[in-house]
Amino acid sequence: MRNIVPILLFGFFATMSAALMGFGAYWDTFEHAEPQPIAFPHDTHAGKLGLECTHCHTSVEKSRFATVPAMSICMSCHENAQIDSPELDKLKEYWTNKEPVPWVRIHSMADHVYFSHKRHIKAGVECATCHGDMTVVKEVKKVRTFSMGFCVGCHRANNAPQECSTCHK
Ligand code: HEC
Ligand code: HEC
Ligand code: HEC
Ligand code: HEC
Ligand code: HEC
Repeated sequence: MRNIVPILLFGFFATMSAALMGFGAYWDTFEHAEPQPIAFPHDTHAGKLGLECTHCHTSVEKSRFATVPAMSICMSCHENAQIDSPELDKLKEYWTNKEPVPWVRIHSMADHVYFSHKRHIKAGVECATCHGDMTVVKEVKKVRTFSMGFCVGCHRANNAPQECSTCHK
C-alpha cells in the first residue's frame, strides 16, 4: 500500500502535466499568434478612416490572392504625416532601408486545396463571411478554420460547384 500511493500520485501528475502541455500547444496555435513586426491597426484604417479593403489588398478582386500591401501604399499617407508613434518609426525605418515589412502570414490553405478570392468577391461573398468584421478589430486573428464542411456547406446552399475537382486539382 505504502508503495502504491506515490506511484498513483506520480501517474496522476504525469497525466495532468501532459494534458496541460497539450493545451499549451493548442493555445499557442490559436491564441498567441506570432506578433506582427508593426502593430498595424485594421480598425483605425478600415473602420475610423473608412478605407476600402481593396485600397490595400489591391488584387483581391482580380486574382486568387488578396496579398498584403506594398509599403508604397502606406507611405502615400505616412511619408509626411506628423504622427508621433513608435510603430510608425519602425515603418519608416523599413522604408529608409528599402526592406519590405516581414508581415507574419495568418491564413493559409492546405496545398491540396484550391481557393480563389476573385470568384467569391465577384459572386458577392463578403470578406467578413470568412474573415470576420475587420473594421472593428485591431489585430488580425483567424475567426474560423477553413474546413471542407465550411466551404462545401456554402457551395451546396448557393448551387456553386461541388465536384471534388473544384477544390482538389
Ligand atoms: C491601410 C491598409 C489596409 C486596409 C485598408 C485593410 N488591410 Fe487588411 N492587412 C493590411 C496589412 C498591412 C496586413 C498584414 C499585417 C496584419 O496581418 O496585420 C493585413 C492583413 C489582413 C489579413 C490577414 C492576412 C493573412 O496573413 O492571412 C486579412 C484577412 C485582412 N487584412 C483583411 C482585410 C479586410 C477584410 C479589410 C477591409 C475591411 C482590410 N483588410 C483592410 C492592410 C490593410
Ligand atoms: C489613407 C491614408 C493611410 C494609409 C494608406 C495608411 N495609413 Fe496608417 N494611419 C493613417 C492615419 C490618418 C492614422 C492615424 C489615425 C488615428 O490615430 O486616428 C494612421 C495610423 C497608423 C498607425 C497607428 C499609429 C499609432 O501608434 O497610433 C500605424 C501603425 C499605421 N497607421 C500603419 C500603417 C501601415 C503599415 C500602412 C500600410 C499598410 C498604413 N498605415 C496605411 C493613415 C493611413
Ligand atoms: C470564401 C471565403 C473568403 C472570402 C469571402 C475572403 N477570403 Fe481572404 N482568405 C480566404 C482563404 C481560404 C485564405 C487563405 C488562402 C490561401 O492560403 O491560399 C485567405 C487569405 C487572405 C489573405 C492573406 C493573403 C492571401 O492573399 O492569401 C488576405 C489579405 C485576405 N484573405 C483578405 C481578404 C479580403 C480583403 C477579402 C474581401 C475583399 C477576403 N479576403 C475575402 C478566404 C476568404
Ligand atoms: C459564403 C459562401 C461560400 C463559401 C464559404 C465558400 N465558397 Fe467557394 N464559391 C461560392 C460561390 C457562390 C461560388 C461560385 C462563383 C461563381 O459562380 O462564379 C464559389 C466558387 C468557388 C470555386 C470555383 C472558382 C473557380 O475559379 O473555378 C472554388 C475553387 C471555390 N469556390 C473554393 C472554395 C473553398 C476552398 C472554400 C473554403 C475555404 C470556399 N470556396 C468557400 C461560395 C462560397
Ligand atoms: C468547395 C471546396 C471543396 C470541395 C468541393 C471538396 N473539398 Fe475536400 N477539402 C476542402 C477543404 C477546404 C479541406 C480541408 C483542408 C484542411 O483541413 O486544411 C478538404 C479536405 C479534404 C480531405 C482531407 C485531407 C486532409 O487534409 O485530411 C479529403 C480526403 C478530401 N477533402 C476529399 C474530397 C472529396 C473526395 C471531394 C468530392 C466528394 C471533396 N473533397 C470536395 C475543400 C473541398
